[in-house]
Amino acid sequence: MFKDKKVVFSGVQPSGDLTIGNYLGAIKNFKTFSEEYYCLYCVVNEHAITVRQNPAELRKRTYETLALYMACGLDPEKNTLFVQSHVPAHAELGWILDCYTMFGELSRMTQFKDKSAKNADNINAGLFTYPSLMAADILLYQTEMVPVGVDQKQHLELTRNIAERFNQVYGETFVVPEGYIPQTTAKIMSLSEPTKKMSKSDENENAVVRILDPKDVIIRKFKRAVTDSGSEIRRGEGKDGIMNLMSIYGAFTGKTEEEIEREFEGKGYGDFKMAVGEACADALAPVQAEFARLAADKAYLETVMEKGAEDASRLAARTMSKVRRKLGFVELGRK
Ligand code: TRP
Repeated sequence: MFKDKKVVFSGVQPSGDLTIGNYLGAIKNFKTFSEEYYCLYCVVNEHAITVRQNPAELRKRTYETLALYMACGLDPEKNTLFVQSHVPAHAELGWILDCYTMFGELSRMTQFKDKSAKNADNINAGLFTYPSLMAADILLYQTEMVPVGVDQKQHLELTRNIAERFNQVYGETFVVPEGYIPQTTAKIMSLSEPTKKMSKSDENENAVVRILDPKDVIIRKFKRAVTDSGSEIRRGEGKDGIMNLMSIYGAFTGKTEEEIEREFEGKGYGDFKMAVGEACADALAPVQAEFARLAADKAYLETVMEKGAEDASRLAARTMSKVRRKLGFVELGRK
């Protein structure tokens, strides 16, 4: 669409320290699209304020999320890396799409239900309409593909419905996007309750391995990971803990489940957990080193933000002009 390439868009909130679930399920894959697609990766700070944020903290995390994108291999020369609030068209299209999103649809969103249960004292309208802002992020750039973790599948379906509804009323306006949800690594589970997703906001720190956790912390968390009373490293009924560790190990080493079972035949859980911890820490070490270097250079991060905002704004303007025209908004200064 733009620059003769199909568009990939994804976003990460600058809230909470990202986990290996975010890394394996989404961010690690982002760079694989850079050659073939026109990629936009956004730090979605407007989404973050649907729950209360400390301003200084939010600002700091915005820089850090951008640094982390780059530390995970995203070259700002090959990808448009930017911050959502630097491109006002997101909020503008968000409002417009609110008017093409049904109350009933938003009421069915499981993330809304979860988050309102967790933030019972702050169930604000933004938390409710969050998915139409997310749809705006995506549709603004005529996105074809959205790499996300499986927890975002419902929001993506809604985005497609909104795009189709708008197109039906006004004629072809938006590309209807596809989700790209990696099969095996999309869902990394909690180390303490392996039937629950690993969540960056989990109160139990031992349940979550964070991308920036130091090696000794990573090893300790894996050592404490909940498993079952059996002793074999293999897939099976009631072995959610071991299966989760197997998928983490597989994701970091590229080994298949069969290979992992063979490698640990006759070995105990202790050995296996140690191996998973080592593999994870080794894989994250270069990301952590690069992050430390980048996060210390705010001025550089700001030049990346500026260029990203400029490129994204230019693309967003094309869609916005089309949308305004179709809606019947008077546009001034058109030649
Ligand atoms: N909702 C996503 C999450 O919580 C973040 C997000 C916002 C996003 N806008 C997006 C992801 C657009 C993909 C595309 O993880």
